[in-house]
Amino acid sequence: MRRNIVAGNWKMNNNLLQTEALLQELKMQVIPENVTVMVAPAYTNLYHAFESVRGQAIEVVAQNMHQSKNGAYTGEVSAEMLKSVGIDTVILGHSERRAYFNDTNAVLAEKVNTALENDMQAIFCFGEELEDRKQGEQFEVVKAQLEQGLLHLNEEQFKNIILAYEPVWAIGTGETASPEQAQDIHAYVRKLIASAYSDTVAENVSILYGGSVKPGNAKEIFANPDVDGGLIGGAALNANDFMAIVNAF
Ligand code: PGA
Repeated sequence: MRRNIVAGNWKMNNNLLQTEALLQELKMQVIPENVTVMVAPAYTNLYHAFESVRGQAIEVVAQNMHQSKNGAYTGEVSAEMLKSVGIDTVILGHSERRAYFNDTNAVLAEKVNTALENDMQAIFCFGEELEDRKQGEQFEVVKAQLEQGLLHLNEEQFKNIILAYEPVWAIGTGETASPEQAQDIHAYVRKLIASAYSDTVAENVSILYGGSVKPGNAKEIFANPDVDGGLIGGAALNANDFMAIVNAF
């Protein structure tokens, strides 16, 4: 089912005490019924966060995971480990993972499979770089990322996917895609999903926008017919800003 979703990607920020402090602030807020709220703390704080928000309308999700079941992968965390601490959703393919940690489309295809095999949902991120956009190649880039990382799934599996369009040039830069630029890509992606699966599947997938979403611009971005919410970085570290975005539908 297509849902409005606002997910806070905390990245490598907040130790345990800071994680709890931010969660306390969020827990005091009323979450509107038409929005699914997610937060993604660092691995070390996932279990605590899961316990802390138990019974509340806030879902704790992971920022990444390894594609293998288990084994000699020093420093990595598996789907089964995430599940064992209550995590059912994982962000995959964030541009920082693609840029710094070799999350290629092929690796991401494996990670997506692993997530689904473990009954997890995946928030699959994709988006072009500035150079791609300057060349007018944003649609081709996005298409290739989706085809190579995601569209091997069958229709049933695809129901567990949330999409997140994050133009790399807009992440952490203060530069936001205009509402029109976001809508153009989102509409294009929904069409791509319709031709890969069906109109129903395309209608039902939530497509989030990420890249310098702030309280001041969330409303006009979320107002687009094909934008179903946001993946929020910097502004998710402040409870008031995050909640203003949650309330921007
Ligand atoms: P930003 O990050 O909101 O700080 O631009 C978005 C993201 O990386 O998901």
